[in-house]
Amino acid sequence: MPPAPPRRRAAPPAPDCPEFATRLIAWQERHGRHDLPWQRTRDPYRIWLSEIMLQQTQVGTVIPYYARFLERFPDLQALAAAPATAVLECWAGLGYYARARNLHRCAQRVVAEYGGNFPQEAEKIAELPGIGRSTAAAVAAFAFGARAAILDGNVKRVLARCFAVDGFPGQAAVERRLWTLAESLLPAARIEAYTQGLMDLGATLCTRTRPRCDDCPLRGLCIAEREGRQTSLPAPRPAKTRPERESTVTLFTDGQRVLLERRPPQGIWGGLLAPPEGRPEALAARFGLRPCGGGEAMPALRHAFTHFRLTLRPWHCRVEAATTAADAAAGHEWVDIAAHASAALPTPVRKLLAQLAAG
Ligand code: ADE
Repeated sequence: MPPAPPRRRAAPPAPDCPEFATRLIAWQERHGRHDLPWQRTRDPYRIWLSEIMLQQTQVGTVIPYYARFLERFPDLQALAAAPATAVLECWAGLGYYARARNLHRCAQRVVAEYGGNFPQEAEKIAELPGIGRSTAAAVAAFAFGARAAILDGNVKRVLARCFAVDGFPGQAAVERRLWTLAESLLPAARIEAYTQGLMDLGATLCTRTRPRCDDCPLRGLCIAEREGRQTSLPAPRPAKTRPERESTVTLFTDGQRVLLERRPPQGIWGGLLAPPEGRPEALAARFGLRPCGGGEAMPALRHAFTHFRLTLRPWHCRVEAATTAADAAAGHEWVDIAAHASAALPTPVRKLLAQLAAG
């Protein structure tokens, strides 16, 4: 019997398509964004910081945080030298706090291993904490003009539509195809305008719902547009319900202040302050508090995390004033309710304090 023919690998998804980059670059220069606070700089620190903040947060939300962060930590050395709690405090409200912890670690690594100078190759940047392949490429391209491919959620959508890549882009095999495609499309020059153009197109025209194909520079080239498949590409995440979790917390107040506890470093809100978990009667004894009554239930609060949904069931319990049970060293702190905005607090906790302040 003749030997079996070698297995054919799937054809590479990218036809050579220089037109893609040419059109995108021309469009970015005329219609793209040029005045975002992290543009018009080649400072890798500023670029890296923006890319980390933009990983899971919209541009409009990032801008004020970015300005405040740079005021507080103007350069890599300042960030590396700061205590972790100061970094978390500056991040509070942006969510996904692992980003802040990794940011701090990354700054310390760059100082320790590279004398404070970011490495210039995307592969080296990707070895640093909190920096994935796409973020590393964006930093390398914007800061050093490196020819490296990005592939964030927006870019996946643009490529899946333009080249009709089927399947959910979060699936490993589909993602591999998209990376191959992204690499094959890179232009020989003008990598910054190209990279920014991909981001701008995904954010402004090639949006998830109701893309503005009439204004798109890829019109005629884009298979989804030619075949009217914009709404079915990219394929949606296969339906999977996120598990539900519940947590009962108690807000003990003594007049102006509320008792918060620093969460253990692992798990949700690691390192941040949050009300202790449990019902008032169980916790009062643990903290040596004397409640003025039984406490009252506050409205439940829902919050979506990446891997589960949380229903927070808060109680409010007034306790006698002048309590000194809190001990910062043991992770318990009384914080002023009205001044809570400056503390390192997760968003749902801020909402609860806002309710207390209003009530
Ligand atoms: N999203 C991720 N990186 C970005 C950038 N540099 N500009 C705008 N949006 C982005």
